Amino acid sequence: MINEKFPKIWYGGDYNPEQWDKATMEEDMRMFNLAGIDVATVNVFSWAKIQRDEVSYDFTWLDDIIERLTKENIYLCLATSTGAHPAWMAKKYPDVLRVDYEGRKRKFGGRHNSCPNSPTYRKYAKILAGKLAERYKDHPQIVMWHVSNEYGGYCYCDNCEKQFRVWLKERYGTLEALNKAWNTSFWSHTFYDWDEIVAPNALSEEWSGNRTNFQGISLDYRRFQSDSLLECFKMERDELKRWTPDIPVTTNLMGFYPELDYFKWAKEMDVVSWDNYPSMDTPFSFTAMAHNLMRGLKSGQPFMLMEQTPGVQNWQPYNSAKRPGVMRLWSYQAVAHGADTVMFFQLRRSVGACEKYHGAVIEHVGHEHTRVFRECAELGKELQQLGDTILDARSEAKVAVMYDWENRWALELSSGPSIALNYVNEVHKYYDALYKQNIQTDMISVEEDLSKYKVVIAPVMYMVKPGFAERVERFVAQGGTFVTTFFSGIVNENDLVTLGGYPGELRNVMGIWAEEIDALLPGHQNEIVLRQDWGGLRGSYSCGILCDVIHAETAEVLAEYGADYYKGTPVLTRNKFGNGQSYYVASSPDADFLQGLIANLCEEQGVKPLLNTPDGVEVAERVKNGTSYLFVMNHNAEEMTFDAGASRQRDLLTGKTISGQATIPARGVMILERA
Ligand code: GLA
Repeated sequence: MINEKFPKIWYGGDYNPEQWDKATMEEDMRMFNLAGIDVATVNVFSWAKIQRDEVSYDFTWLDDIIERLTKENIYLCLATSTGAHPAWMAKKYPDVLRVDYEGRKRKFGGRHNSCPNSPTYRKYAKILAGKLAERYKDHPQIVMWHVSNEYGGYCYCDNCEKQFRVWLKERYGTLEALNKAWNTSFWSHTFYDWDEIVAPNALSEEWSGNRTNFQGISLDYRRFQSDSLLECFKMERDELKRWTPDIPVTTNLMGFYPELDYFKWAKEMDVVSWDNYPSMDTPFSFTAMAHNLMRGLKSGQPFMLMEQTPGVQNWQPYNSAKRPGVMRLWSYQAVAHGADTVMFFQLRRSVGACEKYHGAVIEHVGHEHTRVFRECAELGKELQQLGDTILDARSEAKVAVMYDWENRWALELSSGPSIALNYVNEVHKYYDALYKQNIQTDMISVEEDLSKYKVVIAPVMYMVKPGFAERVERFVAQGGTFVTTFFSGIVNENDLVTLGGYPGELRNVMGIWAEEIDALLPGHQNEIVLRQDWGGLRGSYSCGILCDVIHAETAEVLAEYGADYYKGTPVLTRNKFGNGQSYYVASSPDADFLQGLIANLCEEQGVKPLLNTPDGVEVAERVKNGTSYLFVMNHNAEEMTFDAGASRQRDLLTGKTISGQATIPARGVMILERA
């Protein structure tokens, strides 16, 4: 359990008192108490303050901050400060500076700016983590280590290039194997010496960020850079663990952030934490899906909401204020999906530089008489009252949607068949259909144990890794329902096409063969025409982006295309396989079709919605010791009514008992306790 040391939903966030004088900090303590803040993330970006040259370290100011917070009984999420290197280091040791995609050597500036393969960066980051852990190892208030900050970005410098070759040697063993995996006989690319291999960027194989001549090298470079940053994380983690083996270690992730394979990262982290910054028009279902992905990184373990803004952001094109009630609502949305902390960036707004217009619990005016502060203080009180009731409660979803970073990289790097194909969007379409019907859903990796689920949906599973097809076959044979879509089963883990007909290794379980893949022009659509009514699905629906032209082998045809030269050929098939069945959706359908499809699949498998609610009223469940906690969240700006069911349930937030028709206020939240 995350919150062992003080068992309640931790409440607080990033705090940078090194930017302020002592009097301000005094005032902060008073206001933290008013707001019910009990955890502070400190020392996130202080490397330059701690270390002014190679040998001098000054922690006295940090001692002060830690003592102040300790006096107020505020717990510490202590960061290691390695998310931005000091200027002196860049000047003296240019190897810490990255080379960008265009091949330009960067100068000092920004943050998240260190080359992960820089010997200097690694040396000093390791020393710093070790010194922090040694100094504060016995401090009772430290509840979490926060390594670096939002790891990300790629580097293309000479050190990375050299290290890439070492990484490749480990992966492939011989150049012969590498040449085969990358299909280098194409365009005369055969490598005879490891040193002939260069980093793939705008100077070599790539352009526009994700267009490439060779998917093999580009895919491997993404794996390698993700691994390189992970090495940096592991190096600091191991230093911290040397001194404090019992303090958990995390680093703040970013949901669907494209560049790092978080499933691989999560294996190295004690606790997953992430920063949730939806914009005002992000679909609520997208945020819910991102939370569930973060929960899925460690197979359902609760996670930390490490950052969110209490008010506005500063880095989006339009930084609308969170409307009254929205901060609370979105905080509970995180908790509903598995967060055991509610934390902000930031506790006090900074006075200068690019984040001065980023919202904070304490705004520039400096006192507590603001709407944002009042809302924060009310939530603080409420979380205190909740105590440890829902801590460590889990999801018991019977439906899962798969997501895979390597699949995403390979898809995005693929030249053709359509730039309109967006993996995350396709995944979201299916998640959204489940969300709208209040079907509790997990987001899982391709390695997850499938036997927990009744329905597994793997949209655009383009890359099939070793062993995956067999696991799907076993899952279906044992009675599961598996769904995949167009452009699936095309390549292996090296982006080499599986010959003998798409969907390659999935052909057996899907019972179909895809002969052609047609990309539709913008604005063009085809039709999904049901052969006969199926549950709520009847008549026709639109579809687009890609249309696989398929042949049913052992599968039964449920719907066919309504137009074009493949009119009358299958677009939706069902294949009975052992005790279960698999569905192939050969194009990207409209939302109505997906609603109907999901309803039918859940019905067939006996998976019930958590509740029936009107549009915009979200429901999610956490379960602990046989008790279910049903979070009902009204995203609408007006009061709504819903059917809470016949049994009497207590709302943990108001203490009221409800049943039958219930009303929920605009942007309101209920946590219904059900035995
Ligand atoms: C990220 C960072 C923070 C801060 C916020 C602003 O999440 O981790 O340091 O920059 O964004 O939204």
